[in-house]
Amino acid sequence: MSHVQEHAADHQGTRRDFLYYATAGAGVVATGAAVWPLVNQMNPSADVQRLSSIRVDVSAVAPGTQLTVLWQGKPVFIRSRTEEEVKSARDTDLAVLVDRAAENENTAAGAEATDANRTVMPFGVTDPKDNPGTWYVSLGVCTHLGCVPLDHQGDFGGWFCPCHGSHYDTAGRIRKGPAPKNLHIPLVAFVDDTTIKLG
Ligand code: FES
Repeated sequence: MSHVQEHAADHQGTRRDFLYYATAGAGVVATGAAVWPLVNQMNPSADVQRLSSIRVDVSAVAPGTQLTVLWQGKPVFIRSRTEEEVKSARDTDLAVLVDRAAENENTAAGAEATDANRTVMPFGVTDPKDNPGTWYVSLGVCTHLGCVPLDHQGDFGGWFCPCHGSHYDTAGRIRKGPAPKNLHIPLVAFVDDTTIKLG
């Protein structure tokens, strides 16, 4: 490799690392760029970032895709899971989990990281048994050092954090790599069939 090539490769690596860190640090959304026009239309004011709660229209989020919104300066993942993704999360034995805590502000203290405790019930559903498990919402902040994990990647089909190689499953639970905890779930609920309220 010539000096110039070496230099270019170094530069590329450095820049990529920098972007991941910078986006996490600045609270800019690194994934889901395609959805920004929608989000921007919905939230025309930058002031929305400072509001304690926001409402997000999820009607356009198809199964197998994710919407990423910025809330209180942090990316929030709103993912519509496929049946296979739901099944794989539900079939996971809790004994294999790195972090067995739900890490969910909506559940009681001490709740376990079952799939039911890691997903949002649809509007009007109150019994976890009736939850199809379609909707997953969490902060998009890796619990290792705060990078933004990439969706639909990694060994468990959930998220992959490229900074140091943490793999999360389809319920946002850490399964492999240096991250110590499951992705954090903030206060979240459906307020009608297609609107999620954060906070
Ligand atoms: S910040 Fe995600 S693995 Fe280190």
